[in-house]
Amino acid sequence: MNIIVLNGSPRPSGNTKAMISAFTEGAERAGHAVTVFDVCRMNIKGCLACEYCHTRAFRQCVQKDDMQKIYPVLDEAEMIVLASPIYYHGFSGQLQCAINRIYAQGYPKKLKKAMLLLSSGDKGVYDGAIFTYRNSFLEYFHLEDMGIYTAAGDENKSDELLARIREAGAALRDPDDRNVPRLVIRSGDIMVKARMNDSFAARDFMNRLPMTVTGEDSGVDYCCELKDGVIDESELQYGWKNGDINAYGGWFAILYGGEEQSASYRQMIIAHLDEEENRLIQTLPKETAFELSLEEPYRASSN
Ligand SMILES: Cc1cc2nc3c(=O)[nH]c(=O)nc-3n(C[C@H](O)[C@H](O)[C@H](O)COP(=O)(O)O)c2cc1C
Repeated sequence: MNIIVLNGSPRPSGNTKAMISAFTEGAERAGHAVTVFDVCRMNIKGCLACEYCHTRAFRQCVQKDDMQKIYPVLDEAEMIVLASPIYYHGFSGQLQCAINRIYAQGYPKKLKKAMLLLSSGDKGVYDGAIFTYRNSFLEYFHLEDMGIYTAAGDENKSDELLARIREAGAALRDPDDRNVPRLVIRSGDIMVKARMNDSFAARDFMNRLPMTVTGEDSGVDYCCELKDGVIDESELQYGWKNGDINAYGGWFAILYGGEEQSASYRQMIIAHLDEEENRLIQTLPKETAFELSLEEPYRASSN
């Protein structure tokens, strides 16, 4: 898989860099492609909060600095590694600037996994960085945690620590298709799970859950009124496959049938029900309320 590393240390032979080198060695040994950005050596300004990226040019940042080199690599990456020295109980300022600028992209398209590497002088100073990692990356982007590795004082550059990080890199596997987030749909006694896809709209939808929607069976779908979320218009499609779920045009729709006649309808497909689940949905009464939530099989680990 493609792995992007954001290195927040300005010291080219420092402690953080040693952790990154060990990680890269292991990951490349396992056949992964690792791209490291030394953000302290790049011209990356802070976010201006101008909202150009959300109102004028979707997913484009108005600031044409070195962040433009990171965006395309981030969009192709399936895993992100945040690596930083601890400065005043958080990430280095340079790394935080780069993180804040991810705001322009919204959700990097292919990200599935993440890892955190932290170096510090003292022990027990990681809560701030770990909070950001867990909430802004694992939760918000719905990523699988591949581990948090920390080194305080003498632990830095120790053979034992670097060996553990090297092995963690070597043990990485490509994202598993079975390990995708699932949309849990409950109605009465029936519960089905739909596999969320990689679209921008799907990621946005996951962050709006849980919710309840009410709809009616139209003969080909359960159509429920729902205010549109954020979508990438380039991901809109015509038609659907039986079992697709649309979140667009003011509707949340479980499109259980009608595939053959669907070609002229514009859809934003965010998830899909397998055949058996799609069959179960069709046993529900004509008017139905659906409780929607997210099931994530992801483990959260700490090393
Ligand atoms: C501006 C600054 C702030 C720091 N703040 C902390 C801190 O809050 N807690 C801590 O334990 N170490 C702190 N340190 C020490 C670094 O985290 C530590 O030396 C780390 O290993 C440096 O990593 P590097 O070699 O990759 O640059 C700070 C260092 C600097 C330069």
